[in-house]
Parts: sequence; C-alpha cells; structure tokens
Amino acid sequence: MDKIVILTGAGISAESGLGTFRGAGGLWERKRVEDVATPEGFARDPQMVIDFYNMRRGKHREVQPNPAHDALARLQAEYGGEVVIVTQNVDRLHERGGSAGVIHMHGVLDGLLCNACGFRWDWPFERKLDLETPCPSCGAGPTRPDVVWFGEMPYFLDEIETHLSGCDLFVAIGTSGNVYPAAGFVQIADICGADTLEINLEASAVSSGFARQLRGPASEVVPAWVEDVLSNRA
Ligand code: APR
Repeated sequence: MDKIVILTGAGISAESGLGTFRGAGGLWERKRVEDVATPEGFARDPQMVIDFYNMRRGKHREVQPNPAHDALARLQAEYGGEVVIVTQNVDRLHERGGSAGVIHMHGVLDGLLCNACGFRWDWPFERKLDLETPCPSCGAGPTRPDVVWFGEMPYFLDEIETHLSGCDLFVAIGTSGNVYPAAGFVQIADICGADTLEINLEASAVSSGFARQLRGPASEVVPAWVEDVLSNRA
C-alpha cells in the first residue's frame, strides 16, 4: 500500500472548536445557507455575506489544530509512500498542523476571489474583508471570499480524480457525505480498486460505500489509526 488519499470534512475540525455545518449547533443553523453561501445571496446582500465571513475568519484566529490534524501531518512525514490530503474545509488547520500540499477543493477562508476575472489572492486572517477592495488583476469589485459556494464547481477536480484513481487506500474523515462531488469520491476509489475507510462520529450518508468504518471522535480515532498504519509499515 503506497498511496493514500484522505478526504477531510468539518468533523476533523470540530474538536478545535469550529462548528460543523449539519450537526447540532451547526454553522448553517444560525444563518440561511442561501443567504451566506450562494452567489445569489452575495448579489442580494454583499455586506451580510462579508460580515458572516469576517465572523468566521475572526473565529479561526482563536482556534488551533487538534491531534487529528497533527496525526495526518505525522503520517505524511513518516509513511514513506504518498499521502494526499484533500479537504472540504476552508480553515487552514491542516497546514497549521504541519501538513503539506493540501488540496483545498472548497477554497480557503484566507483568500479572495474576483468574480469578474477569476483571479485569486491571499487575504491574511489579520485583515478584515470589505467591499471596497478591488481586484489587483483587473480592478473590478466587489471581490468575495475565495470559498466555493453552493451551486459552484469545486476546485482541482481533475487532479483529485487522478489521485483517487491511482490510490491504494481512500479514507474519509469527519464528513457527512451530503455534498457532492466529494461524497462520491469513495465510489471512484472503490471502482478503481482501492481499499476504503470511513472515520466519523456516526454513520454518514454514504457509509455503506466504504469497506471499513471506524467510529468515534477524530482527535482520538485518527491518531490511533495513524499509529496502526505506521507500525504495520515498519
Ligand atoms: N470527529 C469525527 N467526526 C465528527 C466529529 C468529530 N469530533 N464531529 C462531527 N463529526 C462528523 C459528523 O457526524 C458529520 O458526519 O462530521 C460530519 C460533519 O458533516 P458536515 O457538517 O455536513 O460537514 P462536511 O461534510 O464537511 O460538509 C461538506 O458542505 O456546507 C458545505 O462547503 C461546506 O465543505 C462543506 C460541505
């Protein structure tokens, strides 16, 4: 087993103090998703969307990676083969936990995107988002958070499919399996002959598609699984 592809969702960051989207107290419970996470919502009320993302960005400055993020960084460093992390999370906690080459399929909270020309650039957490900042490439405005919203195409899908079709093991961690295309990755990996493992607090919408399951909080289950993989490899 040489190549592992890991897909992560909001559940891996839950124990860092970031709300998940669909669980109790989930992020969408306090806001209508169509207001704050769709292009139409932004067109209707850009200030409300900017305020929502400034709130999320402020929260992200207060949180730290947890043992699950740390364990995946350890796996990347010690495994020997290739370990690719694909995340739906926009929180940057994988990088802060020491991971490299993370594929951010739903964008990043510390980036901006120009709707007019598609230019993407960094916007560090220390700075506030506003509606006045023009695109540094084409000068258009207003610019928006570089987060993939509902109805939009995730980033890097070709690259991800190439990784999935060449992997020996596909692992999904902390994702409810409600949002496609990520929820369909297990099928691609399975059809291509990979072993598949789901690590989650509870059954997801696509659990039946995985060959194996580990249930429990990511901060406990992921480090134990990594330890297991590394000791079997030694
Ligand atoms: N450890 C492991 N799993 C957990 C934990 C935990 N501590 N806490 C919650 N979970 C699980 C939940 O049981 C749930 O199945 O994590 C999953 C989180 O699911 P969602 O909130 O739906 O998050 P996610 O699957 O990442 O959402 C996908 O939807 O809203 C969009 O773009 C957004 O990237 C997001 C996408």
